[in-house]
Amino acid sequence: MQTEIRTEPYTPRTSTLSLLVVDDESTTRDLCKDVATDAGFHVIIATTTEEALENLDSRAIDIVITDLQVPQIGGLELLKKIRADFPECAVIMLTQYGTIKTAIEATKLGAADYITKPFHVEELLTKLARISHSIETDQENRLLREQLKSRPGFGSFIGVSPKMQRVYKLIQKVAQHNYPVLIMGESGTGKELVARSIHFAGPRKNKPFAPVDCSSLVPTLIESELFGYVKGAFTGAQHSKQGLFESAGDGTLFLDEIGELPVDLQSKLLRALQEREIKPVGSNERVGIRARVIAATNRDLESAIRTSEFRQDLYFRLNVVQIKLPPLRERKVDIPLLVSAFLEKFSDPARPIHTISDDAMRRIMAYDWPGNIRELENAVERAVALGSGPILHVGDLPSNLQYTSAEKLPDVDELVPLEALERRAIFRALRETSGDKLAAARLLGIGKTTLYRKLKQYEAGRPAA
Ligand SMILES: Nc1ncnc2c1ncn2[C@@H]1O[C@H](COP(=O)(O)OP(=O)(O)OP(=O)(O)O)[C@@H](O)[C@H]1O
Ligand SMILES: [Mg+2]
Repeated sequence: MQTEIRTEPYTPRTSTLSLLVVDDESTTRDLCKDVATDAGFHVIIATTTEEALENLDSRAIDIVITDLQVPQIGGLELLKKIRADFPECAVIMLTQYGTIKTAIEATKLGAADYITKPFHVEELLTKLARISHSIETDQENRLLREQLKSRPGFGSFIGVSPKMQRVYKLIQKVAQHNYPVLIMGESGTGKELVARSIHFAGPRKNKPFAPVDCSSLVPTLIESELFGYVKGAFTGAQHSKQGLFESAGDGTLFLDEIGELPVDLQSKLLRALQEREIKPVGSNERVGIRARVIAATNRDLESAIRTSEFRQDLYFRLNVVQIKLPPLRERKVDIPLLVSAFLEKFSDPARPIHTISDDAMRRIMAYDWPGNIRELENAVERAVALGSGPILHVGDLPSNLQYTSAEKLPDVDELVPLEALERRAIFRALRETSGDKLAAARLLGIGKTTLYRKLKQYEAGRPAA
């Protein structure tokens, strides 16, 4: 193995990609680390797959180099997990000489490349250069980075937690394609917002977005809503009517609460998706469909499949890409940003509410938010409507928040002006990234220079501009 580190012909990069090296064997691990650090990557190391997954969960990682034989679950299983949960992350497998079959298997499973040990530094550099080039020139990613730089979220989304950043990346990626998307998440986590964002971020944005709530209609109505009907198809059908599949044209059909669709309609929907054709109620003629289908549910479809309430074949058809929305309690770091955005949204511009009392903020942070963002949004709207002065107090919050047990409350300052919410988000991000300013800036969705400027201002004891 060659240990000399040569950075030529690798050109230094302008932005830093993060790279995770997973190997329990220190020689290879350290070599990869040195080579990649010299080439300008931000390198993190892990010695087990568990450690690797923890890192992937807590920060944005662009490339993973993993050994095939790594404790606990091994490189191939880790690769599968990364493909499923972090599809935007590229994986390079390190394999032993003579295990070419496994290397090919890894490529089939979605590894971006493989390197056989022992390897030359140049080989690693060339492969890293190729992969980072494709990451960087990826138009969708570039667009996303621009958006993340300019606001604490993405489009209409607020939130900078790693879990939400993964969601934004996926939205950006799937928006450019036509395959079905299944959005899963508890009530109020933003499923419809995701569906709309996919539609409006892609080439169908000027075509119709047709939502249909499968839980709010009786079965016969859903069928005619979706597929349309011809005159005389049933009592009262005095005219033919186009269904949503047809009227969505080249746009998007959003099947909300798909888990509530009756089983017989599930078969009809499956046929429509497979054949790209529908038959309006009462008609024998088939009509072609072109709309993209996005489905959402707050139900655990896999358990509905086990109890025969949901067809497995339809699940496979819809679940080409799955976007899982985290509940708010799993991304509490986003709460201050959401509160400040909702305060701005709901407060009267003539009498804006900029601050929230210590106690009120503590209760908001301590609460579990079973109704997720919708519940938080409603709570802030209500508090703003009830509040009398420029400060929002506990008494303005819904009663279930007023009685949160005191032990659960985290420590915060006396009063929390909006500027302090921002400062808190910054320090929280720095804590989560162990002081890595670049990673913290990415987490916060702001540029590195903005973060440096704000930190300087804090150090000087001035409020950040
Ligand atoms: N990340 C976010 N940032 C800001 N607002 C959000 C975010 N996610 C959701 N919201 C807002 O929260 C409310 C609920 O979102 P949405 O209707 O998309 O959720 P849902 O998952 O479809 O809920 P349900 O299961 O109840 O239908 C909306 O007003 C939406 O604009
Ligand atoms: Mg919804």
